[in-house]
Amino acid sequence: MGNVEQPRRRTIRDVSKAGVPGVWLTAYTAPMARRLDTHVDVMLVGDSLGMVVYGMPDTLGVGMDMMIAHGAAVVRASRQALVVVDMPFGSYQESPARAFRNAARIMAETGCGAVKLEGGVEMAETVRFLVQRGIPVCGHVGLMPQAVNTAGGFRTQGRDADQARKVHTDAHAIAAAGAFAVVLEGTVEPVSREIATSVPVPVIGIGASPACDGQVLVVDDMLGMFGTATPRFVRRYADMGGLVDDAVARYARDVRNRDFPGPEECFGARRQVMPG
Ligand code: KIV
Repeated sequence: MGNVEQPRRRTIRDVSKAGVPGVWLTAYTAPMARRLDTHVDVMLVGDSLGMVVYGMPDTLGVGMDMMIAHGAAVVRASRQALVVVDMPFGSYQESPARAFRNAARIMAETGCGAVKLEGGVEMAETVRFLVQRGIPVCGHVGLMPQAVNTAGGFRTQGRDADQARKVHTDAHAIAAAGAFAVVLEGTVEPVSREIATSVPVPVIGIGASPACDGQVLVVDDMLGMFGTATPRFVRRYADMGGLVDDAVARYARDVRNRDFPGPEECFGARRQVMPG
């Protein structure tokens, strides 16, 4: 047998600022990771899994064990994409040292290539602390879902000059602290465009701007799996929810009519052993 070239897994060095926009999607499970692996550059094991997979109202109830279990599943089921795992709420905000302990645990127990954390200027010191100690970090600014309670909801950012200045300053602070990329979420287009063109590391947009260096979506949203009300920035590429409804309705009808299983779906007996 000759040597079969194994595809090389992408690293943060492959996530570049210039050229073709980066394709990022969330992934939470092994079957989905297997499907996405050859199509995307980065799979993000987002803490959105709390809402998408576990039916939580927001991401605050997601814990370390959950992120590690899903992160490890996505890494096991993929060979090419860079896997980035979200640090959950409460696992990094207290201190850089605590952030390092939890980030190191996520990296060691999942095998992922990087972690992501939310926050701007106030998290820059933590980002620097992690990066200097061998943890690649992706930032997340603009609309930050873990701040839903202090923000008073999931609110689009950059609508006035103060907000625009804050998002700009946050993105630059996180990039200057050593993040290899910054996710920019839910921020008005002109502000997002200005940030994407001025921040020196790749800016990955979600509800941001086509000028970003890449785009990320929640995979269940773009596949039409996650409810009917999707945010305006989601483009639906499929109606998987509709396909599931239709398939399950047909299965239920077949079972109730005794049309399932049919003879071809039963094991034939080689020799009938009659009781008695
Ligand atoms: O948790 C998540 O899925 C995310 C994306 C929405 C960027 O952070």
